[in-house]
Amino acid sequence: MVVCICNAIREKDVRKAARDGASCPATAYEALGRRPRCGQCFSFAREIIASERATA
Ligand code: FES
Repeated sequence: MVVCICNAIREKDVRKAARDGASCPATAYEALGRRPRCGQCFSFAREIIASERATA
């Protein structure tokens, strides 16, 4: 599933960034070499990061 339409970032990419230490959408996207743009994906990305960190 695509999380961020602007950057074509997939859920699995966000999960990997979270496992690698990203704690918020901005740092996760930066780790993937992308930049936050419209921000519409942030709440979804935040949920994914939280769930990944909860199970880490
Ligand atoms: S959908 Fe992610 S920044 Fe626009």
